[in-house]
Amino acid sequence: MAFKLWSMLPLVALATVAVAAPSRQTVCSDGTVVPDSVCCEFVPLAQALQKEVLMGDCGEDAHELLRLTFHDAIAISRSKGPSAGGGADGSMLIFPTVEPAFFANLGIADSVNNLIPFLSQFPKISAGDLVQFAGAVAVGNCPGAPQLEFRAGRPNATAPAIEGLIPEPQNNITEILERFDDAGGFSPFEVVSLLASHTVARADHVDPTLDAAPFDSTPFTFDTQIFLEVLLKGVGFPGTGNNTGEVSSPLPVSSGTDVGELRLQSDFGLAHDERTACFWQGFVNEQEFMAQSFKAAMAKLAVLGHNADDLVDCSAVVPKPKPATGKPASFPATKGPKDLELSCTSKKFPTLTTDHGAQETLIPHCSNGSMNCTTVQFDGPATNFDGDDS
Ligand code: HEM
Repeated sequence: MAFKLWSMLPLVALATVAVAAPSRQTVCSDGTVVPDSVCCEFVPLAQALQKEVLMGDCGEDAHELLRLTFHDAIAISRSKGPSAGGGADGSMLIFPTVEPAFFANLGIADSVNNLIPFLSQFPKISAGDLVQFAGAVAVGNCPGAPQLEFRAGRPNATAPAIEGLIPEPQNNITEILERFDDAGGFSPFEVVSLLASHTVARADHVDPTLDAAPFDSTPFTFDTQIFLEVLLKGVGFPGTGNNTGEVSSPLPVSSGTDVGELRLQSDFGLAHDERTACFWQGFVNEQEFMAQSFKAAMAKLAVLGHNADDLVDCSAVVPKPKPATGKPASFPATKGPKDLELSCTSKKFPTLTTDHGAQETLIPHCSNGSMNCTTVQFDGPATNFDGDDS
């Protein structure tokens, strides 16, 4: 008798699953199967973002949209309470003259102005959903990026966030880890995972004399080079030295608009602090592990301020990312194991090859290797701290 009862349990469990299964499953116009018709709104949005802003490229516009997902979401504080900020709520777009003008948001105005027109083009989509979805579409243009999770249904922000919630490159690692913990309980591993984003990143404002100074030698590819190159000995600065939040870089040589690599003090700190160094080093040449860890941490970032269960899982409408190049991590030309400065001693460092060339690597300014690339910049109400909108 007892045997019969136990053997019936799986059937009961199956029946429960069947009842709880989503009842509003829909097929969107492009054939994507989604759990709710609200997800289908995002299919034409993805197409419009690609056509009107991104052009399928992992260039400046894609990088800026990815950064915006972070700066919108992290503006929330468990210790200060809800009045400090609503997290991933689109407050950047709804109050474009407030948060983009904070010093720590220098450069964000570009992406805010590029997204604002989509609010009226897609009136059913909230600002918070637009920011996080646009970031997911953008990073998918970078070969090797994961297909990010995307949930829909964030209510619109009702107030801007306060100043002081965005981590800055001159913050020490304790301050950075505390900020991420206060925002959403991120662990040191999750913080390092999020920093995979700096594999497709360049700075316009750290050294104001430079335009788009990359953080690694492959800023148009979502690879693990950032984790390797931040571990190489710094030898100089790509522009002027002594900028706040910048430390010396292993590849400072510039030529025309091909600007040498710029290293953030915060990335350097995370690569060497005992709480994060082994996580940082552990991503070197671990493409899939890095991509999946980034995906998991981004899923948490993207719903800050919301209960994920209140949102609809529309991940199926996030376009499939461009596949990884398949090229293993490698030392840039002229560099090798002798240039490594490692703080994690408990992990064996992978054996890597060195790229060919007798000269220090020059990093191309554009994803097609040229020095002049077109970027899209809509006019809009958002301006940076310095009153500039670039
Ligand atoms: C410790 C935390 C972080 C610090 C201190 C930091 C700092 C910075 C700084 C100073 C810049 C250069 C901005 C400029 O001068 O134009 C930058 C760029 C960027 N950051 Fe971060 N960041 C952090 C975390 C993140 C996270 C979590 C993400 C995304 C999930 C992110 C994505 C980006 C991207 C994509 C860019 C490049 C933007 C562009 O090329 O226009 N960052 N970051």
